[in-house]
Amino acid sequence: MKAEIFQDVANLPTIMVIFGATGDLTNRKLIPALYNLDRQGLLPDTFQIIAFARKNLTTKEFCEYSKSQISKYKVAQIEDVTWKRFTRRINYLHGDFKEDQAYTHLAKELNKIDSDLGVCTHKIFYLAISPDLYERVFQGIGHTRLNQICQNLKDTRVVIEKPFGRNLDSFLKLNAQVSSVFAEEQIYRIDHFLGKETVQNILYFKAGNPVFMSDWSESRIDTIDIVMHETLGVEDRAAYYDSYGQLRDMIQSHMLQLAALILAEIPESMDASTISKNKEEVLNSIYIENIKRDVHRAQYSEGVVEGKLVNAYAEEKGVKTNSITETYVRIKAKVKGGKWHGLKINLETGKRMPEKKTEIRLHYKSAEPTKGLVGKNCLIFRLQPSEGISLEMQVKKPNNAKLETVTMNFDYDRSFREILPDAYEKILLDVIRMSKNLFPSAAELEASWKFTDMIVDEWRNDNIEIAKYPAGTLVIN
Ligand SMILES: NC(=O)c1ccc[n+]([C@@H]2O[C@H](COP(=O)([O-])OP(=O)(O)OC[C@H]3O[C@@H](n4cnc5c(N)ncnc54)[C@H](OP(=O)(O)O)[C@@H]3O)[C@@H](O)[C@H]2O)c1
Repeated sequence: MKAEIFQDVANLPTIMVIFGATGDLTNRKLIPALYNLDRQGLLPDTFQIIAFARKNLTTKEFCEYSKSQISKYKVAQIEDVTWKRFTRRINYLHGDFKEDQAYTHLAKELNKIDSDLGVCTHKIFYLAISPDLYERVFQGIGHTRLNQICQNLKDTRVVIEKPFGRNLDSFLKLNAQVSSVFAEEQIYRIDHFLGKETVQNILYFKAGNPVFMSDWSESRIDTIDIVMHETLGVEDRAAYYDSYGQLRDMIQSHMLQLAALILAEIPESMDASTISKNKEEVLNSIYIENIKRDVHRAQYSEGVVEGKLVNAYAEEKGVKTNSITETYVRIKAKVKGGKWHGLKINLETGKRMPEKKTEIRLHYKSAEPTKGLVGKNCLIFRLQPSEGISLEMQVKKPNNAKLETVTMNFDYDRSFREILPDAYEKILLDVIRMSKNLFPSAAELEASWKFTDMIVDEWRNDNIEIAKYPAGTLVIN
C-alpha cells in the first residue's frame, strides 16, 4: 500500500514555471538538477518546464544558452541523447514580470498545456528572481488566478529562495505578500543547505538509534558546538553579502536550522507540520544571556589560505573600504525550558578560516570519576568535507593506567557506493513530491529572525571598531 502511495506521489503530472529562467541560479543549479533527475528517471512521466524571463529568446535558443552555461560551470555531465529528451520538456516564454500581460500570457500557456494533456496538472511556481520582484509576481499570479487549484490546495505550490528578508520586519512583510496569494502549506522556502543528505540524516539517525536517543536531553548532553568554517572569501557575492554579513547569511538560516533539527522531537509519523512545530518551539527556547559578553564578531584581513595570499575583506571587489560587515561570528547561547533546559549551544562560523569544516559536536556529560579516571564521550555529525558520524570514546592506553580518546568513524563514502545527491536535486524532488520536511515554516523563520535581530540591535548601539583576523587563521585581535 505504501509503495502505491509513493508511486502516485512520484508520478503527478506537473508543470514547473521558473520565473527568472535566464539567471544564474536557474542555469547553475535548477536546470542541472532537473536534468540529473530526469536522467535518473525520477521526474514524473508528465513533467513540463516553462522557462520564463525577460529576454526575447526562442525555446531552442534558451536550451542552447542553458547547455552552454552548464558546460561553462561544469555543473552536470551532459549526455546528448538525454539532454535532447530533457529539452522536450521545456518551453521558453518571455515577458516583463512588471507588466500584466506577462501573466495573461503565462495563464494561456498553462491552460493550453493542460488542455493538450487533458489533465489539470500540478503547478509549481519557482521564483528564481530578485526579492524586489516578488510582490509584483504574487500580484500577477493572484490577479490571473494562477494560484487556483485542481483538487487540493497543495496541487499548486510556490518556491522562494533565501534570503527571506534581512530582519524580522522585512521577513514579515515578505511573508504577508506571499501569504496573500498562497496558504502556508503551498509555500516552500528553500534553504538549499538542508537538502544535503547528511543534514537529512540527522532526522533518520534520531529515528534509528535508540542507544543514543534514550534520554536525548540535557540530563545526558551538556554542550553542543555547531561549527561552519569556510576557506572561501566573499567571492562574487559582495553586493549582497556586504549589506548582510555572516550572522544573517549563516546563523539566522543554516546554523539555527541545524540546532533545531538536533534538538526537536521527531514524531513517529515524521509528519512535516509536527516536525516544524517542534523546531519552532526549540528555536524560541534558544537565548543569549549577555550579548556583549557572549557574542563575538570579526572581519578577515589579508592572509594566507591554503598556501595562497588572499586580500583583506575590505579590499575585496564590491566591498566598501570602510565596511564593518562581520565575516566571522561566535555565539554562546543557551536553552531555556523543556528537556534541554540549561543546555549550552556554541555557534561558530567564518569565511577564510584555516580549513573547510561543518560539524555538530554533542558533548556528553562526564561520568563520576572512577579512581581518577574521567569518562566522557562526544558524538560528531560531520557534514562537510568528509561526511559521516564519529564517536569519541575513552579506552585504556596499552601499558598504562590512563584513558585515551579514540574515535569510531562512519564515513558515507566507505559505507555507501552511491554518490551523495546534489542538494538542489533532493530539494526539487521534495517540492515535486510535496514532501515538506526540508522547508522551514514562517514561524521557524520568525523565531530565528528574532534571535539574530537582538544581536544586530546590540551591534548597532556599540561603536567598537570591528576586530580583525588574518585570513587563514582563527587569531582574532
Ligand atoms: N545565484 C545563486 O547561486 C543563488 C543562490 C541562492 C539564492 N539565490 C537567489 O535566487 C534569486 C535569483 O538569483 P540569480 O543569481 O539567479 O539572479 P540573476 O542572475 O540576476 O537572474 C535574474 C533573473 O530574473 C529575470 N528578470 C529580472 N527582472 C525581470 C523582469 N522585470 N521581468 C522578467 N524577468 C526579469 C532575469 O531575466 P533576463 O536575464 O531575461 O532579464 C533573470 O532571468 C535571488 O533571489 C537570489 O538571492 C541565488
